[in-house]
Amino acid sequence: MTVMGIMLILASYALFLTRDVVLLQRTIEKEKEKETLADRPYIMMIGEVNDHVYWNLVRQGAMDYAAEVELYLDYAGPNSSDPLEQLRLLSKALDVMPEGIIVQGLTEDYIPLINQAMDEGIPVVTIDSDQPHSKRMSYVGTNNLRAGELVARDVLANVVDIQAGIITGSYTNYHHQLRLAGFKSIIEKEKKAKVVAIRSSNITRVNAREKAYQILTEHPEINVLFGTSALDVLGITEAIDLLDRQDIYVVGFDTLEKNLHLLKSGKVQTLIAQEPYQMGYQSMKIMQKILSGDQVPETIHTDSHLVKEGDV
Ligand code: BGC
Repeated sequence: MTVMGIMLILASYALFLTRDVVLLQRTIEKEKEKETLADRPYIMMIGEVNDHVYWNLVRQGAMDYAAEVELYLDYAGPNSSDPLEQLRLLSKALDVMPEGIIVQGLTEDYIPLINQAMDEGIPVVTIDSDQPHSKRMSYVGTNNLRAGELVARDVLANVVDIQAGIITGSYTNYHHQLRLAGFKSIIEKEKKAKVVAIRSSNITRVNAREKAYQILTEHPEINVLFGTSALDVLGITEAIDLLDRQDIYVVGFDTLEKNLHLLKSGKVQTLIAQEPYQMGYQSMKIMQKILSGDQVPETIHTDSHLVKEGDV
């Protein structure tokens, strides 16, 4: 046998051994995973951000329900809002073949993967933001269109001659679009009310401040500012302070602690409360029903309502 021949045999043997080691490692991983799961169904939840005041409440609700009924919850989300990264996480979740997936359905780009999961027998529940044209089993979250309408009615009841500026969490995310559509549908019916400018904060306080500052400078006639995501009123009120425009009526989403503080101090006039903890809790409850073979409703709207200074 030539030296070349011997080397070839040795190389194939090494390859064979490596393949065996990889297979063995995979089996060990699977066994370990089974031990952690201890026979609990594995539910994957994908939210907008991994560590975020709002999403931590969603996750907590889901964990509490998981602990009550012995489900295993794995929560994942991008480090900051990033719909494409979130989509990649959803695709990865499909590879893992969990017993169920709960996902914030941000845009229509999510539909093919949601449908693929359903076709492969993995039930999907959308949370916080829906994709109603997908095959998902159920949506758990706010009625976002109605929430936008509620905000508009509050503004109409409190401001004459409305010149509104809007800081939206995102232009493309379905739930923010609904909030905006609800708001506009009421405002645009009125003669003495209009939406003057819209900018996106990409759900960060810093962007909300920058964008609010910009539109107030470009449109000094603005007398109402509406923030559609949880940290927007924080940024909006900072911009108002910088420009010393205390005459502006501020409304916005979410009764997080810092927002309630702004409400009490009179810097924000109205907040709209959502129930992130309940979204997490109820979505897991629905998932458990699905796994038990029960029928589930297509939509479960968690409560949302207006909160004024006197309510807190
Ligand atoms: C929205 C969430 C969003 C959060 C961000 C909430 O109002 O419902 O989708 O992630 O704001 O701050």
